[in-house]
Amino acid sequence: MKNTISTLLKQKQSGDRITMLTAYDSTTAAIMDECGVNAILVGDSLGMVMLGYENTLPVTMEDMIHHTAAVSRGARNAFIVADMPFMSYQTDVRDAVINAGRLVKEGGANAVKLEGGSEVCEQIQSIVNASIPVVAHLGLTPQSVNAFGGFRVQGRSLDKARKLINDALEIQEAGACAVVLEGIPSKLAEIITQKLAIPTIGIGAGSGCDGQVLVYQDMLGLTAGHTPKFVKCFADAGALIRKGILEYISETKSGAFPSEEHTYSAEEDVISQLMKECG
Ligand code: KIV
Repeated sequence: MKNTISTLLKQKQSGDRITMLTAYDSTTAAIMDECGVNAILVGDSLGMVMLGYENTLPVTMEDMIHHTAAVSRGARNAFIVADMPFMSYQTDVRDAVINAGRLVKEGGANAVKLEGGSEVCEQIQSIVNASIPVVAHLGLTPQSVNAFGGFRVQGRSLDKARKLINDALEIQEAGACAVVLEGIPSKLAEIITQKLAIPTIGIGAGSGCDGQVLVYQDMLGLTAGHTPKFVKCFADAGALIRKGILEYISETKSGAFPSEEHTYSAEEDVISQLMKECG
């Protein structure tokens, strides 16, 4: 059964936690879909984990459409959310609607996600008016890395926590169908979750959210270097991939690969004729 905004809302109401993972390609999306993940986020985190940038800021609409279309071809049942990249919606409402439309029309997304609170409510309202569901994103919003002065937990002071609660209420009022809460204290995420009628999906926001999202390279041990505290490695796929590549190198060098099992043959008489012709 296809997951929709109604499925996610019903999950919040019944206390059935929402599962969301990022994916950027068709193969991974198909595996996640088969496993029954509720939603796939084509995050602009692809800038880092797929394209090797330092942060999400260089990601373009073309990048997002390309990867969203690949994910849409791989997943049948998961609700597909595509990130709106930096400067594709902050500039004005018209840009926001046009770019959200492209992610749905050319990428096959079921919803778009954009970062920010009260300052993007007009954009949320207009995109929703164009019949495109919007997932909001509050807290440690990576597109604001320069404004934050780094990737830091948000909402730790009373003022900032109050602002986040207010932003959450405003984005809900503007028509958002769900909100990602990233990098905020778990108690604050719990308060927001209780105050909102729409589902909250947490990343680094504790277990009191209506669901969780993780970047798949992080949760499968594929990310090199430092991973944040909130990341749990559920399977060390990185070790498995390294083992496979090392075995391939070793067997190719020794000649053990390819063996008979992985080799094509031709009829004996064809081969003997060829041998005669070629000496
Ligand atoms: O881009 C992304 O992967 C995200 C998640 C971290 C929520 O926005």
